[in-house]
Amino acid sequence: MKRSSLTIRFSQTAKDKLEPADAQLMEQAVEAARNAYAPYSQFHVGAAVRLVTGEVLKGNNQENASFPAGICAERSVVYYAHANYPGSAIDTIAVTASPCGVCRQVLLESEKRKKSPIRVLLASGNEVRIFDSVKDLLPFGFDSF
Ligand code: THU
Repeated sequence: MKRSSLTIRFSQTAKDKLEPADAQLMEQAVEAARNAYAPYSQFHVGAAVRLVTGEVLKGNNQENASFPAGICAERSVVYYAHANYPGSAIDTIAVTASPCGVCRQVLLESEKRKKSPIRVLLASGNEVRIFDSVKDLLPFGFDSF
């Protein structure tokens, strides 16, 4: 039996040290979180996507009394992007939290179908972690598509 290990590469910096375009995108994610509907968890999440065209789209979590009907911020904005800008790949997504497993899988498929890596910026307090691709966030993701 062979033992292996994986290295996950990411950069980390303070919010105020981000490149201007990334700082702006993270600010849009923070702004989007203000419109989250989270009466059950009280956990407000915002996400902002920058398409390769430069267009910025925002999303947030939307909960429902029928719990499984709620949707995370990441999926709300990624699905909106593909529904309304089917020809444009996502360049970068900024999120005010760390994505759940389901959202990571959705982001992975989004990256694969557009054949274009998605940069991911995740805020954690005043720090931001930057991943070059969703593959770094979800090693061994479901991969039959
Ligand atoms: N949530 C997100 O919006 N994104 C994630 O990646 C994790 C969780 C939302 C779902 C739910 O409305 C609330 O946060 C608590 O789980």
